[in-house]
Amino acid sequence: MTTIPTVAFDDQKPGTSGLRKKTRVFMQPHYLENFVQAIFTAIGGARGKTFVLGGDGRYFNDRAVQVILRMAAANGASRVIVGQGGILSTPAASNLIRQRKTDGGIILSASHNPGGEDEDFGIKFNMPNGGPAPESITDAMYREASAIVSYEILEAQDVDLNALGETSLDGMAVEVVDSVADYAALMETLFDFDAIRAMFAGGFRMRFDAMCAVTGPYATEIIENRLGAAAGTVTHGTPMPDFGGMHPDPNPTWAHELMDEMMGPDAPDFGAASDGDGDRNMVVGRGIYVSPSDSLAVLAANAHLAKGYAKGIAGVARSMPTSAAVDRVAKDLGIEAFETPTGWKFFGNLLDAGRVTLCGEESFGTGSDHVREKDGLWAVLLWLNILAVRKQSVADILNEHWQKYGRNYYSRHDFEAVDKEKADEMVAALRGALADLPGRTMQGMAVAAADDFSYTDPVDGSTSAKQGIRVLFEDGSRIVMRLSGTGTQGATLRLYLERYAESGFDRDPQDALAPVIQAAHELADIAGHTGRTEPDVIT
Ligand code: G1P
Ligand code: ZN
Repeated sequence: MTTIPTVAFDDQKPGTSGLRKKTRVFMQPHYLENFVQAIFTAIGGARGKTFVLGGDGRYFNDRAVQVILRMAAANGASRVIVGQGGILSTPAASNLIRQRKTDGGIILSASHNPGGEDEDFGIKFNMPNGGPAPESITDAMYREASAIVSYEILEAQDVDLNALGETSLDGMAVEVVDSVADYAALMETLFDFDAIRAMFAGGFRMRFDAMCAVTGPYATEIIENRLGAAAGTVTHGTPMPDFGGMHPDPNPTWAHELMDEMMGPDAPDFGAASDGDGDRNMVVGRGIYVSPSDSLAVLAANAHLAKGYAKGIAGVARSMPTSAAVDRVAKDLGIEAFETPTGWKFFGNLLDAGRVTLCGEESFGTGSDHVREKDGLWAVLLWLNILAVRKQSVADILNEHWQKYGRNYYSRHDFEAVDKEKADEMVAALRGALADLPGRTMQGMAVAAADDFSYTDPVDGSTSAKQGIRVLFEDGSRIVMRLSGTGTQGATLRLYLERYAESGFDRDPQDALAPVIQAAHELADIAGHTGRTEPDVIT
């Protein structure tokens, strides 16, 4: 066991979802080690504790897992449960942390960011409830990492992570478990596999694009092997360290292969994709795209059709920038609806307290109280269960939904790799102008309210300020703007646009939102500040 002297890095501040940097930054001497030691110190030490460990298999995952095992042993941990080959999807890790009643877990992933030596890597800590560490803990990690002078590590050979079973690393048990088995078993408790199997047996066709990322083995086992979907239903199903050069972000831009097929002449009945670490999902019907905000609303309205939610749902939560479509369902069901800041960590307390059952974000994240992460495959299976029970097409289900609740036209525009200083200036200018906005009319819409979103957690009373600028119009339209907390290059400006319609449901969202888009550009002077007139990605 060795104590290694080190020097602090000044940039180890966790963002929306853990610490994310370029892979080469993580590969610098001591960089990973410093942060792992900071995690252990911030949670009160590792001595005697049990952790789960795994990642999405991206480049450097295998090396990082070995380093973390040696550091856990040197810090006195009693057991680490590792996914075979160092692989665990984020929801599967969350499940293991909970099922095995551990003291938390370390997840290696940069989610939907590309992987590779010149791309991105990330690390985050999840709490014993299975959810991402709250801000109080991530702040402590940052403090520890900023002041670190040494870390503990064992000198040892690599542990063989390919063979299932238990070995010892200087007294610490290393338990290698099947990456898929426990997760698949959990899914069987929530959904009616027989009904879905019957649907596939009846000729229902599906495409699941795993984008060469971690969900490949999970989707193949569950959708093809257990539910009987045709072989080849899962495409890009072999995880690769560089995701085969794909950008594993399940949205219409990056999952264009799937989109083309679903909009084409011989489209399957249902299409879905997942991201690098398996917590995101995109859902598409034959010829119709389902926006994540609509997906959340449809799932909330129909969850009772699946056995795991047959008793109904306690409440719903969505991140502030997510459309209010699900709020309408909650009102109809007579259940609570919560609006939280961006990031899954804000759902944890509500889920733990039993106040909400379903939650979601516009950024292709949906989940429930079965784990404490968003869960891509879970959302796909809930959709399949609903389709199997309702025996309707995705298009019919969506149209009926809009007929009943109206349609919240919605889109997000991302301006990527913007100069950080200019982006900050733009946000500061907008913040300064908020007080004068109410009463002003833009594009024929009167501003009802404007603020910088601040959240008080209803369970523990903690507050989070400056969580996004929002401008609310009297007709229910809305503009939200915030800077990304997961990017690794410059700043990414996210512009969220929403407009409610009581009729006329088949418009192109970009057309329906045109006045709101125009108003947003005028308001923030995006072109003036950043030089950008067009977004890089539209979802
Ligand atoms: C993005 C999404 C956010 C999500 C997070 C982690 O964060 O917008 O909803 O929780 O990734 O998947 P952002 O880059 O906007 O800070
Ligand atoms: Zn992810």
